[in-house]
Amino acid sequence: MPVRQIVIAGNWKMHKTQADSLEFLKGFLPQLSETSDEREVVLCAPFTALSALSKTLHGSRVKIGAQNIHWETSGAYTGEVAGNMLTELGVRYAIVGHSERRQYFGETDETVNWRLKAAQSAGLTPILCVGESKQQRDAGETEALITRQVNQALIDVDQQNLVIAYEPIWAIGTGDTCEAAEANRVIGLIRAQLENAAVPIQYGGSVKPGNVDEIMAQPEIDGALVGGASLAPDDFARIVNFES
Ligand code: 13P
Repeated sequence: MPVRQIVIAGNWKMHKTQADSLEFLKGFLPQLSETSDEREVVLCAPFTALSALSKTLHGSRVKIGAQNIHWETSGAYTGEVAGNMLTELGVRYAIVGHSERRQYFGETDETVNWRLKAAQSAGLTPILCVGESKQQRDAGETEALITRQVNQALIDVDQQNLVIAYEPIWAIGTGDTCEAAEANRVIGLIRAQLENAAVPIQYGGSVKPGNVDEIMAQPEIDGALVGGASLAPDDFARIVNFES
């Protein structure tokens, strides 16, 4: 069995200016001195903060991620950002298909697939997000939905350069974390769909300092995608430094 990489990523969503981002690093970076090198630490910031973060993090172990990427390399796509615009800044990861993009911006399994391929072509590692709504869970549709999302998203996608995040929508920003054992079960189901069983699969949805140890103790869970708790340097440092 190949060893799976641990990836802990913060998703800042639409939070933090450049100045806020640099202020965050002042509090966060000193707390990484004891963090094992085996843990990949990523900050997925708004496009406008990436350049400032990149300059400050140059030579640091913390990698930078974007929260979206367009499928074309250039063109008439107002408001979108292409892969080479990100790699030029030193960006290494891109979140693709977050449920907020699917819900509010019309992202579909097809556009998610295009964006994944574009990220990989640009040399980025995409973090593919999948997850069911409360309604879908209550209707017993979780397994079918997740299977569809994973399979549609991964058509012609290179599974050697990929991270997946299982983020049940009902657990995002609600404080209502998915039971660790249940997250573990669904993540096992996702892994069973993959050609490459070594793809790191994260859990996301109300990950906090108080529950990260239990989540990371689950055998199928290889990391976390953290929203709210990644905004505060001390909280995110505690998450990155989870006790195993
Ligand atoms: P919260 O950690 O705020 O629940 O957000 C999770 C998320 O959506 C990360 O992408």
